[in-house]
Amino acid sequence: MATETKDPATEVTTAPSADGKREGKRALVTGASSGIGEEFARQLAKQGYDVVIVARRRDRLDKIANELKEAGADAEVIAADLSRPEGVAAVVERLEKGDIGVLVNNAGFGTSGEFTRLPIDRELQEIDLNIRALTRLSHVGLAQMKQKGAGSIINVASTGAYQPVPYMSTYAATKAYVLSFSEGLHEEAKGYGVNVTCLCPGATRTEFQEVAGVGEGGIPGFAWMSAEAVVKNALGAAKAGSAIATPGLLNKVTANLPRFTPRFAVRKISGAMFKRAAERD
Ligand SMILES: NC(=O)c1ccc[n+]([C@@H]2O[C@H](COP(=O)([O-])OP(=O)(O)OC[C@H]3O[C@@H](n4cnc5c(N)ncnc54)[C@H](OP(=O)(O)O)[C@@H]3O)[C@@H](O)[C@H]2O)c1
Repeated sequence: MATETKDPATEVTTAPSADGKREGKRALVTGASSGIGEEFARQLAKQGYDVVIVARRRDRLDKIANELKEAGADAEVIAADLSRPEGVAAVVERLEKGDIGVLVNNAGFGTSGEFTRLPIDRELQEIDLNIRALTRLSHVGLAQMKQKGAGSIINVASTGAYQPVPYMSTYAATKAYVLSFSEGLHEEAKGYGVNVTCLCPGATRTEFQEVAGVGEGGIPGFAWMSAEAVVKNALGAAKAGSAIATPGLLNKVTANLPRFTPRFAVRKISGAMFKRAAERD
């Protein structure tokens, strides 16, 4: 499938620091209190990374951090609401220390339903988290990595990034931004030794569906992936220097179909699917 480009010159890991500590072997993961982000923290810790984990639910983060510490990783917790400027500022300050070799911008949520019936404050919060925070953290993270000429950023979009999704219009639009933005950064950053990968998962078993109010969304059982498989794919793609990671054959097909289908038909098909899901759940 044509969704991946390779740049084998870049690696997830970066150089050790002069003081012998594992500089560059520290990763910061947003949205690490559940689902895909929690799995990123666990798999990165297994790969030898110390981690900084970020989300709003401190109790969850503390529990995960304790488990990771017991397994030998250093785990730092930042409880922050990334849809708010002060929450983003706390993470910016942490990134400015300059010791983060891998940044995973994963925190995000979706909303579903007919747009005029959705509370506008929640739609704007979705934009603030999925777009604004991700952009701000990419900016500071990338600047730090550029200085060292090494590092890796993984931004989490969705297969929803590849087409408009009526009844999840805001969500799909935020993820289209993440995909386009991350591909742009990928090309810029490889010039100075940093890799940017955009992860585009399809249906993945996490708390996402409950938060978005879409339930199973009529998606058949075989189409679902585990967070574990999604993250394994993403870390492999980042290590290989890929611009895009779309885990799972079905998701690769779904991501590519809109390129070969007239746009009006794409809108109609996804609209029919998601209208049913929004009405059902
Ligand atoms: N699951 C899927 O089917 C699927 C498919 C495509 C893309 N994705 C994307 O994958 C990413 C991870 O989602 P998930 O599936 O793992 O869902 P999830 O289990 O609901 O996890 C979302 C994470 O984001 C955090 N978060 C939400 N609002 C936040 C805020 N205002 N500030 C800071 N952190 C916040 C949550 O923690 P707190 O609530 O503790 O803050 C949680 O750790 C999202 O960007 C999502 O859009 C998911």
